[in-house]
Amino acid sequence: MKKYFLFLVIVFLFMGATAQKFDQLAKTPPMGWNSWNKFHCDVSEALIMQTADALVSTGMKDAGYEYIVIDDCWQVSRDENGEIVCDKERFPHGMKYVADYVHSKGLKFGIYSSAGTVTCQRRPGGFGHEYQDARTYARYGVDYLKYDWCGSTTQDAKSSYTNMRNALFTAGRPIVFSICEWGSSKPWEWAGDVGHLWRTTGDISDNWNSMINIFEKQKDLARYAGPGKWNDPDMLEVGNGGMTTEEYRTHFSLWCMLASPLMAGNDLQNMSAETKSILLNKEIIAIDQDSLGRQATCYRDNGDYQIWIKALSNNEKAVCLLNKSDEKKSVLVDFALLAQARTGGRGFGGPPAGSTPGAGMPGMPGGQGAAGAPRAQRAPGSMGVPVAAPGAQGAPGGMGPGGPGGQRGFTPMTIDNYHIRDLWDHKDLVLKETSVYVDILPHSVKVYRFIRK
Ligand code: GLA
Repeated sequence: MKKYFLFLVIVFLFMGATAQKFDQLAKTPPMGWNSWNKFHCDVSEALIMQTADALVSTGMKDAGYEYIVIDDCWQVSRDENGEIVCDKERFPHGMKYVADYVHSKGLKFGIYSSAGTVTCQRRPGGFGHEYQDARTYARYGVDYLKYDWCGSTTQDAKSSYTNMRNALFTAGRPIVFSICEWGSSKPWEWAGDVGHLWRTTGDISDNWNSMINIFEKQKDLARYAGPGKWNDPDMLEVGNGGMTTEEYRTHFSLWCMLASPLMAGNDLQNMSAETKSILLNKEIIAIDQDSLGRQATCYRDNGDYQIWIKALSNNEKAVCLLNKSDEKKSVLVDFALLAQARTGGRGFGGPPAGSTPGAGMPGMPGGQGAAGAPRAQRAPGSMGVPVAAPGAQGAPGGMGPGGPGGQRGFTPMTIDNYHIRDLWDHKDLVLKETSVYVDILPHSVKVYRFIRK
């Protein structure tokens, strides 16, 4: 008996010492639905089950959305043994029942808690109960845990989240670990081995300014993302009513360019045709879900007009032209130059992955200090409209093959290697010239995929 006990102690010590995050999860950015943005605390068994049904019937499951995540307010207290207690009025059959239903639809089930003593809605948090809660979640059949930072007082973020990671690992059920620490302690610098995704900012609100400000804050973070470890600029607001259809299209496109997790946050049971056409645009989703797992970098920043490029597998790329201004823009776009743009590395002219970001705004040619970056020029007769770098020679960033930000064995590409597809018009471009004027509506984008011939 004594020997058996000793054996168990050694096994537990060993598990603790080797605890890690579950590998092989979230190799592409997680996709699903979360209750918070639309329903806040108004969650219930019926809502979750009906949303699971809607995820299937609307075609969202087929498009790749798989996690149904209940955010805050499902929990009310702890019992005399410290076990978390769910709201019996809203979840009369308990959480395992809901999880089983979600699984029966071929979907995965997610839940929410916080690393502090309370959640953001002052429900019981996980602090001091990490291993107990992890075992409970495993028993429920949880596949995804969003772990917030409310009620955390003086805790150290990295240690707290690592503790929960170890608890999940020890409980033994593979669970995607979503760190929701709002970017305060720069989780991108430490969370790659701790979680599968980490929030980079405070909460999104359902308006253009909130969305575009969050987007801007992702500029320097591309190097930290990759398969199994994603920057999370927060959940989607598409379909919640605070932005125009054009703005929602922009929101969705930008999130896909960023290789962001795609957690829909709207009412799936009552979606307009416009909302569906955005959330179900499979060509845009394919950009997000590309197996290379690169986050887009800013190739050109002319203030209101920006060009972002996301490297895709098979030497393909997605190019997004963003008009942030309140006026329509007509921009001369040099598709031949974009075809040549080097996308092998994690940025354009920035320092290599893992190095400390310098003052020259890595990933931003045109920012100070980016060697070889093309300078903004004006097209003759184009009314001062920025041009996609006419006459710029070679690759932005100017790195040689194998250099920082580059890729060994890099094959230069030209426009002849590609056909170019407009991912919102769902049409291939027919170019008479390689440089053409493109109209971009206010608060809008054009997204192209350079597809290998
Ligand atoms: C925080 C998170 C949100 C949401 C709420 C719930 O604000 O950042 O995403 O989970 O808590 O209370």
